[in-house]
Amino acid sequence: MSATATPNTNGSATPQAPPRTGRDKWTGRYPHLGTGPLSADVFTSKEQFELEREHIFKKVWLNVGRIEQVPNAGDFFVFDIAMCETSILVVRGADGAVRAFHNMCSHRGNKVCWDQSGNRNNFTCKFHGWVYGLDGDLRHVPDEEHFFDFQRSDHGMTPVACDIWEGFIFINVDPEPAETLAEYLGGMGESLTGYPFGEFSGACASWSTEVRANWKAVKDAFQETYHVAFLHKTSIPDSFTGPANPHQHILDLRLYPRHGSASLWGNAELQPSPAAAIAFRHGSFLLRKDFDAGNLPPSVNPTDERDWVLDLNVIFPCFFVDVSEGSYFTHNFWPLDVDRTIWTSTQYFPKPETAGQRYNQEYGHVLFRDIILEDGNTLEQTQSMLRSGAKTEFPIQDEEILVRHGHYVVDQMIHGRPLATPALAHATNGNGAHRG
Ligand code: FES
Ligand SMILES: [Fe+2]
Repeated sequence: MSATATPNTNGSATPQAPPRTGRDKWTGRYPHLGTGPLSADVFTSKEQFELEREHIFKKVWLNVGRIEQVPNAGDFFVFDIAMCETSILVVRGADGAVRAFHNMCSHRGNKVCWDQSGNRNNFTCKFHGWVYGLDGDLRHVPDEEHFFDFQRSDHGMTPVACDIWEGFIFINVDPEPAETLAEYLGGMGESLTGYPFGEFSGACASWSTEVRANWKAVKDAFQETYHVAFLHKTSIPDSFTGPANPHQHILDLRLYPRHGSASLWGNAELQPSPAAAIAFRHGSFLLRKDFDAGNLPPSVNPTDERDWVLDLNVIFPCFFVDVSEGSYFTHNFWPLDVDRTIWTSTQYFPKPETAGQRYNQEYGHVLFRDIILEDGNTLEQTQSMLRSGAKTEFPIQDEEILVRHGHYVVDQMIHGRPLATPALAHATNGNGAHRG
């Protein structure tokens, strides 16, 4: 069957893959990914880890926060990124602009701001008292006249590329980023335009922990649903799986050059517990309930499924934005070392206006906590066995295609090879995984 050219959401023409069914329903659409096993050493190789630092994390746009963290002039937060070997100071200026700087004094290198967040009129280095404005300019130098050939204007804090997408603050430590943030996010970013991230950021709960596992092993646990029927049989035994879809086969898949999205099946026949039923009466929270498709941008749940629960969106390399109706959640996976990762998950809801909505959200928070505790359970046990070297490769199946894609992108980037532009194609109804 020949492919036809169809514009993708980047505006360029890409071949439209024909719909497929069967064992290679997803992988068969993306032949550049192959079907071979995954090498085990990508999780333990210190050499690969250093290549990932130089060719990925020091080159791409990385999410460091949301604009609600810096609503007013002078609001700031500090974000240390071990993988980029720097600390980033993000601050809203008097002109309203959000800027980022290497958090480093121009005099002799001291970290300028030691607080994690707050509000300031300026930033004063503790070492010799140099003072920087909110715009990074050097404003005051004690005993300035004893420096040589000295111009204050030459010694501001070093800026870091900073831009905002849908309220998410991204930075790029490359002094000359190859792409703008909009170009980097491409069709993935465009597909989520219109989702009410700001409205749903009125109430959030966040969990963060250091996991003794490689960042890709941690990330992979959140970009496949093959594990749901087993690992989550206690927390959500009949929500994301059911007789119609016992293995949580995904409903739809969208691959971009670096990023990827999957629409997840939710059991429309779910019989909630009495406590969950009360929560359902006051809004949505993670589990499947009747939802209003009119509350979603057309590109969320694009195949318009009834048995839909959320879209999983993987923004390369380490940021997930998983959107549902009424709430969304994020994961960030920050490498510290080849076998250490900071994992942060945050769940976002609108500001509650009634006690019922507050109950609904608390129920959602506790359920989400229980689910991600189950997810976190296997990570260190996995890494401990990876170190044994007993296995050199792992088979991964069709439904784990986002795992395969993620490792493909890493491998291409660390070796300086170009990325394929995947064809965009949606699942067709009645293909065995779901109802139309
Ligand atoms: S190192 Fe900051 S003022 Fe000297
Ligand atoms: Fe999970």
